[in-house]
Amino acid sequence: MENISRPRRNRKTEAVRRMVRETHLSSHDLIAPLFLKEGKNIKEPISSMPGIFRHSIDELVLECKELYQLGVPCVALFPAIEDSLKDAKATEALNPQGLYQRAIKEIKNALPDLLIMTDIALDPYSSDGHDGLVDPKTGEILNDQTLEILGKMAVLQARSGADILGPSDMMDGRVGYIRDMLDEENLINTSIMSYTAKYASSFYGPFRDALSSAPKKGDKKTYQMDYANVREALREAYLDESEGADILMVKPGLPYLDVINTIRDNTTLPIAAYNVSGEYAMVKAAHEKGWIDGEKVMIEMLWAFKRAGSDMILTYFAKEAARLLNHK
Ligand code: PBG
Repeated sequence: MENISRPRRNRKTEAVRRMVRETHLSSHDLIAPLFLKEGKNIKEPISSMPGIFRHSIDELVLECKELYQLGVPCVALFPAIEDSLKDAKATEALNPQGLYQRAIKEIKNALPDLLIMTDIALDPYSSDGHDGLVDPKTGEILNDQTLEILGKMAVLQARSGADILGPSDMMDGRVGYIRDMLDEENLINTSIMSYTAKYASSFYGPFRDALSSAPKKGDKKTYQMDYANVREALREAYLDESEGADILMVKPGLPYLDVINTIRDNTTLPIAAYNVSGEYAMVKAAHEKGWIDGEKVMIEMLWAFKRAGSDMILTYFAKEAARLLNHK
């Protein structure tokens, strides 16, 4: 053992490890997805996502305050719409007095500096449970007709006070279409975080439970991506970038770190990872069984997103992780 390179010297104490650490994770990297529903004083547990709730607007504001105080800069809102308000055209999505619009306004009023990210897709409002309009004869998801609704949703959400719009629908051309609609209305400061590489994934199960938004017929494979592909993610990334996206997102997260990494090497835009509901549920379930240390696995998992090249992470762990990271 002469002149041998000893990598262990750089791991010998926590002080050294900290100094040589290549990536960092803090509460400022986290975006908290939150579910909302109509009512007052409601905080309804979601059984497949322990620790996550559907909040009425008043409760939602309290949750946002807590997150903001923990240093979480942004929340992403998802509405659970009553079945009676759902229809084939997702009409409720464009209701200026709808639940979603009211929630955005109330949070903005209470916490002007907390960033609000929204979701643009038809599924929470659609009786078909699809992200786009369904042709009643063929069952096809209609791209260009859907864009018109998405564009109107974007303008409405931006006017209500949303800071970052998140088109999660995977229709072709939607980023450019939405950007044009926003700019025409002089909403030039509203950002777009595009769900750039969103895969047709079975990891969304608990989320669809939370919103009762599972497709009534078929699956989402004609618009969400095939999980066998990575070059296709680059194609989506180039398109979203050229159409004016401000941030590119990859979803799901953990099984798609290679996709994050590939996009990282091919864009200068910031990248977000969505650590989705099924990934959250797996950690919680294994922890409850006593098979893993849920907290430690959570932090390791979140760190992996940073190492792969994402700048920010949408995660249901946001509050729990922020608490832990703030006390380190
Ligand atoms: C729908 C949407 C989904 C998620 C975010 N927006 C589900 C889907 O595409 O069916 C999933 C998020 C998660 O699983 O945590 N547009």
